[in-house]
Amino acid sequence: SVSLFVAAVISYLIGSLTFGLWIARYVRGIDIREHGSRNIGATNVGRVIGMKWGLFCLFLDALKGLIPALILPRLLFEDPFYRGHATVLCGIAAIVGHVFPIYLRFRGGKGVATAAGVAGAISWPGLLAAVITFAVSVALSRFVALGSLFAAVAYSIVALAMTPEPFGPANWSSTAFAIAVPILIVVRHIPNIGRIINGTEAKIGSQPETPE
Ligand code: G3P
Repeated sequence: SVSLFVAAVISYLIGSLTFGLWIARYVRGIDIREHGSRNIGATNVGRVIGMKWGLFCLFLDALKGLIPALILPRLLFEDPFYRGHATVLCGIAAIVGHVFPIYLRFRGGKGVATAAGVAGAISWPGLLAAVITFAVSVALSRFVALGSLFAAVAYSIVALAMTPEPFGPANWSSTAFAIAVPILIVVRHIPNIGRIINGTEAKIGSQPETPE
């Protein structure tokens, strides 16, 4: 329906809000895309501007996934069947907004924080598994990117395992989410994977280097 399309566009525009870029600009007067990993996400804000600003960015980037996925479908639909599918559609639109933001000529972030916010509206067990996996992987490896990659896989496994009839009419969209979003996150981390393999990925707590 037209209203569903409008909700997806609104979600995309909310996801496009470039909080990491704005925080770095207003707090430090710099363009975050020229520092650290050059990413606009919370990890790089924490690395370049400071941990507390990174956490603030994480909070805002997660909120811009959670809010459209939670609120817009409730305004549009009474029926839980349609609400469920609209939640996934608005959530994916917000993640696509963060990764391909219109305000930055479609060159955005990696989608982890925003996907975590959306996951909160789709599968609490999946999000919990992702958060625990993230914390353990980062504690052991010191690579945030590795935590994001394992967390994405953990979400996928737990969310799918907890869904009765994952390909049934009520659940196919959350199944598509649990498969497509982790793949998008992995693809966006290809440069990090390359740097982890060749030993140039920054560990948390170490001084950032800006790759060419
Ligand atoms: O959330 C993105 C994180 O996994 C990696 O960020 O800045 O280290 O490329 P960054």
